[in-house]
Amino acid sequence: MSSSRFAPSGPLRGWLRPPSDKSISHRAALIAAMGEGETRVSGYLDAADTQSTLDAVQELGARVVPIGETLTMEVPPEWKGPGPGKSVGRGYGFRIKGVGLRGAASAAIDVGNAGTLLRLLPGWLAGQEGGHWTLDGDASIRRRPVDRVAIPLLQMGAALSAREDRLPPLEVAGAALHGIEYELPVASAQVKSCLLLAGLLAEGETRVAEPLPSRDHTERMLAAAGVQVERTSTAVAVRPVDRLEPEEIIIPADVSSAAFFLVAALVVPGSELILVDVSVNPTRTGILTILERMGANIERLRESEVGGEPIADLRVRSAPLQATEVGGAEIPLAIDELPLVALAACFAEGTTTIRDAEELRRKESDRIETVTAALRALGGAVEPTEDGMVIEGIGGLRGGTIDSHGDHRIAMLGAVAGLASKEGVEVVGMDAAAVSYPGFEDDLGSLLAR
Ligand code: S3P
Repeated sequence: MSSSRFAPSGPLRGWLRPPSDKSISHRAALIAAMGEGETRVSGYLDAADTQSTLDAVQELGARVVPIGETLTMEVPPEWKGPGPGKSVGRGYGFRIKGVGLRGAASAAIDVGNAGTLLRLLPGWLAGQEGGHWTLDGDASIRRRPVDRVAIPLLQMGAALSAREDRLPPLEVAGAALHGIEYELPVASAQVKSCLLLAGLLAEGETRVAEPLPSRDHTERMLAAAGVQVERTSTAVAVRPVDRLEPEEIIIPADVSSAAFFLVAALVVPGSELILVDVSVNPTRTGILTILERMGANIERLRESEVGGEPIADLRVRSAPLQATEVGGAEIPLAIDELPLVALAACFAEGTTTIRDAEELRRKESDRIETVTAALRALGGAVEPTEDGMVIEGIGGLRGGTIDSHGDHRIAMLGAVAGLASKEGVEVVGMDAAAVSYPGFEDDLGSLLAR
């Protein structure tokens, strides 16, 4: 476990292409592996979580061949950065030769720390008769519930068993599935995606209703691979298909990673940043709406689309912040960024309330507890509640030492807090950042040095 210290800093300036989207990368590897032919994937996230998915699909029989040239994009010469007219790589790319919908080899799969792999993969495997798989992972994964996918999959006819009926390891024996109509008890893109993948191998229609909209990358990617995805405002349905043909998938930058820089720029006076090539899928941009309500002005430059996903460059400048209320339909749209909302709230005027977010307790750590502990250790005034937090704006943070608890988003939260604090922040367990963002410290440093 490594520690890093983040000293109070001057303004952050320049531009940066944050790492590729984690959610889309997991789906790209899985859906390419389910395909018959070869899929070209550009901009796959090079991080521990998505490496677990790449390893998993290879265990299942998919062939992954790196492609030398990575897709690049141009940055306008007038932007202050490492050089004029610079083109930036979108991450690493490869060709994936899939095994087809029913061709996965039996295997023991180590999902590492990846909750998305743990929840999505059983959906594909459950309908492949004759196969047998075990899914297990690290200590954090062993605390994360799988009954949320096991319950509906069992209703579809799957043969599954989990430790204490709800925790990994998860055993999957392939069986004949039939479609169901399932109402998700909580909005979860992972559970929705799992059932949609299972529905591709099930008899009849599989229909998933969500209490609130959650990220829709699976729906978009399946539609691009030739699946007829029926969508209403509250539900999504698929029918079985013979084959998937994804062909090409291009992955934009992750708004969840960009969010660390957005908040850093907002709370460190004099900052101005441009974050390039960021996914602005409306099911992911809750953080932009919340920060704008708090007083941020986040401009969207060069809006376009890659691989069926909307993208933009985001320009942000430091700004005084006001408290806000966050709850209801906004929660699934900003679920992974709520720790950052709590951090920003410490710098805002007034008292911020986050509610309806009990799901935070079931992430890589119990994020209601770990965020509260981290911000309190730095001088913040935070009260945890059953389903959220109440954060009093105190105009800044003193600084101190925090523990990431092995949670990548808590580690990076501590780093951002350090830059804006009075005395700096020591983050114990900074190495956790590599789960979604291996080069985080270097990228942060590059924006300070410019
Ligand atoms: C994800 C969905 C969310 C999110 C997670 C990634 C996905 O989880 O918190 O980081 O890629 O589908 P839930 O589906 O549990 O809400």
